[in-house]
Amino acid sequence: MILNSRRQAATVRQLVLWGEKQLLQAGIAFGHGTDNALDEAAWLVGSTIGITPDALDRSLDRHLNPEQVAAVHRIIDARIRNRKPAAYLLQEAWFAGLRFYVDERVIVPRSLIGEFVLEQFQPWIDGARVHRVLDLCTGSGCIAVALAKAFPQAGVDAADISAEALDVARINVAAYGLDDRIRLLRSDLFDALGGEKYDLIVSNPPYVSAGELAALPEEYRHEPQLALASGTDGLDAVTRILTEAADHLLPGGILVVEVGNSRPALEQRFPQLPFMWLCTQTGDESVFLLDQAQLTPRDPGRIESPE
Ligand SMILES: C[S@@+](CC[C@H](N)C(=O)[O-])C[C@H]1O[C@@H](n2cnc3c(N)ncnc32)[C@H](O)[C@@H]1O
Repeated sequence: MILNSRRQAATVRQLVLWGEKQLLQAGIAFGHGTDNALDEAAWLVGSTIGITPDALDRSLDRHLNPEQVAAVHRIIDARIRNRKPAAYLLQEAWFAGLRFYVDERVIVPRSLIGEFVLEQFQPWIDGARVHRVLDLCTGSGCIAVALAKAFPQAGVDAADISAEALDVARINVAAYGLDDRIRLLRSDLFDALGGEKYDLIVSNPPYVSAGELAALPEEYRHEPQLALASGTDGLDAVTRILTEAADHLLPGGILVVEVGNSRPALEQRFPQLPFMWLCTQTGDESVFLLDQAQLTPRDPGRIESPE
């Protein structure tokens, strides 16, 4: 269509439509912040020329100079050539309406849990009584920051096994001025949390099965495999979370965990647990909620996986 010459001027709208066409022709995979070529192109163009997603609609007829056009060419080229998620190329991701710094040390934020954080997990917990919160497997710290904003009276612990991920989380916590409210902890799940107890534990742990991992598009190979892989059936991390969570929940506290496509395997492994599956606005049901009483075994034994 347009833009054969890098020196040619164009409007934002023309560039977005051109970018969409390039991405579609190249067979790009989506799923790291957008789910289609038009939104991905709009994000790449907008961010490259300094327009935030909420302002893009108002700027579609703006004319860009040849340098801006060339910069958009370069980023679309890079997206196609390297199959690197846009978030890494732009070093930004949007989650729960907030902008986060990201690079390849962390997974690109996209957890379905964000929707429920914004609703303060209503009606499952009374927001006013939430004072101690844990974000287990925090990665970039996106959920921890969103939690701190949703529960302004709460102290948030954010734990991850990866020191590199915690370095990125530190950047985001500082960017939002939340250093005094969010404590970053290096921990193998609950191991370094001692006797800490919480009103709310939230986790988006690794949950991709070995088979699913092998079939993922190229884009996912740019993400830390530690953030995705969780054993043959994807249940290694969530099994440990379920067996140890009761020890870290206060009376009336709740546990909320995302498990993706591992839901059927999880239900099969823990038939005794009354998982409540939360439904997102798009109809996805792969985030479960259990309360402290449901996780507390009535006999002296633990909640144990049958295996
Ligand atoms: C799916 S990512 C989620 C990151 C972030 N919460 C989000 O939603 O974008 C999972 C995170 O768990 C961390 N992780 C993996 N195994 C862990 C373990 N045993 N203990 C603590 N964190 C772990 C990884 O480093 C990664 O940052």
